[in-house]
Amino acid sequence: MSVTADNATQKAPEVAAEAARRRTFAVISHPDAGKSTLTEALALHAAAITSAGAVHGKGDRRGVTSDWMEMEQARGISITSAALRIDYDDRVLNLLDTPGHADFSEDTYRVLSAVDCAIMLLDSAKGLEPQTLKLFDVCRARRMPVITFVNKWDRPGREPLELLDEIEQRIGLRPTPMNWPVGIAGDFRGLIDRADGDHYTKFHRTPGGATKAVEERLSDEQAAAVEDTAWEQAREEIELLGEIGADFDEASFRAGESSPVLFGAALPNFGISQLLETLVRLAPAPAAQPDAKGDPRPITAPFAGQVFKMQANMDKAHRDRMAFVRVGSGRFDRGMVLTHAATGRPFATKYTQAVFGSERSTIETAYPGDVIALINAQALSVGDTLYDGPRVEFPPIPSFAPEHFAVARAVDAGRYKQFQRGISQLDSEGVVQVLSSDVRGEQAPVLAAVGPLQFDVVKHRMEHEFRAPIELAHLDYSLARRTDAASAPALHGLSGGEVLTRRSDGELLMLVHNKWRLRVIERDHPDLVLEPLLAGG
Ligand code: G4P
Repeated sequence: MSVTADNATQKAPEVAAEAARRRTFAVISHPDAGKSTLTEALALHAAAITSAGAVHGKGDRRGVTSDWMEMEQARGISITSAALRIDYDDRVLNLLDTPGHADFSEDTYRVLSAVDCAIMLLDSAKGLEPQTLKLFDVCRARRMPVITFVNKWDRPGREPLELLDEIEQRIGLRPTPMNWPVGIAGDFRGLIDRADGDHYTKFHRTPGGATKAVEERLSDEQAAAVEDTAWEQAREEIELLGEIGADFDEASFRAGESSPVLFGAALPNFGISQLLETLVRLAPAPAAQPDAKGDPRPITAPFAGQVFKMQANMDKAHRDRMAFVRVGSGRFDRGMVLTHAATGRPFATKYTQAVFGSERSTIETAYPGDVIALINAQALSVGDTLYDGPRVEFPPIPSFAPEHFAVARAVDAGRYKQFQRGISQLDSEGVVQVLSSDVRGEQAPVLAAVGPLQFDVVKHRMEHEFRAPIELAHLDYSLARRTDAASAPALHGLSGGEVLTRRSDGELLMLVHNKWRLRVIERDHPDLVLEPLLAGG
């Protein structure tokens, strides 16, 4: 037995116990549904911080939200993402932050490859919104368990049964309410805990919502007296839920087919402890993940982790590049020398940190489900595996269907080398997808983005970081399909589209002007391969 394997065997009970304590999740939502507010509320309840507003927020509540990029500051949006560790009741909750702006969905999608569960956050007045639907598609593709939190119940909104119906009808996810609101949206009195013997908790606001709301347990008799008709209505609705069988079912939740639903309001901190309890109780702990060959990698195997995000420029003083790695198996100890699966080269981990926003602290050990940030990670790309011991590689993280395309050219032909270097670095960080073809040539790569704001980031970084300003000529394509080498020559000759190669994985993509044109091509050439890419497309 090798030294590494021997060590791994020794550490196995510790690794298994630590992994069992972890819950790694992300919040999927449409901008403004309350993700920042919910993050603060979760951290507040878990006593990670003492007052809301210090973790993450917008505007005045910016707190430790990363402010590393001038462009980000100018726009007042968060376009970076990292992880927040919350210690709660002997559990470790790793909340992976997802960039809020719609244009950064590609980055957000990748974060979802590193979590075991998602909280789908809905605004009670709006229900399912476009960005939430797109993100949910990624969860569905991964068969990921999803817990639904209906937020802003303190404000006028929709009927709870109507919201459940929308979830079931539009996305085919069977809702199983874990709690039920007493009082309509806008007149929130409290929650009946269906998972806990139908106990009733009444909520009392605290000014500003900066501290936990006061929760008061009432008996059925007390509740009936205090809440009157609101109580009666809630009881009737709960009976109805029982009759239609909307009860929690572990197997379908784990398979991503049903979703526990909780009602609450993040701003006044109503229903947050119930959400935390549900998360701890129901969200799956890290488990064996299939490697590139499809073999499950046990969590107690020697260390292996996958880069799911790259980030540059966090520290203006020295332009560094950071790789965020989700630990898949084994124990990570700072200072370990790992192997980079893509190159076979050693990778030293002396500089490793736990990061959230601009706060950094050095991390010493990490277990499956944790996120570590490796500094000076120039050699790494999104999707790469690092491991200890015998070689292992995780499958690549899927690229997402781009909808915006532009040709990039160096403004100053004399800086072509810097242009090349910059484009290839941004490609490996996953800032944008880079496509090329013999026809267009190396000097004019096509950049493909899920959201157009990705182009602004590329322009900004090419000018300020690589000193190679670029100009972009937008192309009149709006969708891409995957094709193969056999179909490519025939497709390339058709009007209304062209075939390009994605540099990162060699995939052949057919770009098409619009869906009408695509339909015509599909109709006229049923033998040619044109497959949809993940998420939309
Ligand atoms: P996001 O990260 O999903 O984009 O949303 P964010 O938390 O910034 O919340 C969007 C707006 O919704 C904020 O108001 C926030 O205060 C409000 N909000 C979030 N949760 C609740 C809730 O449970 N009840 C009520 N009533 N409001 C909620 P804003 O005025 O746009 O911003 P701010 O000035 O308060 O920061």
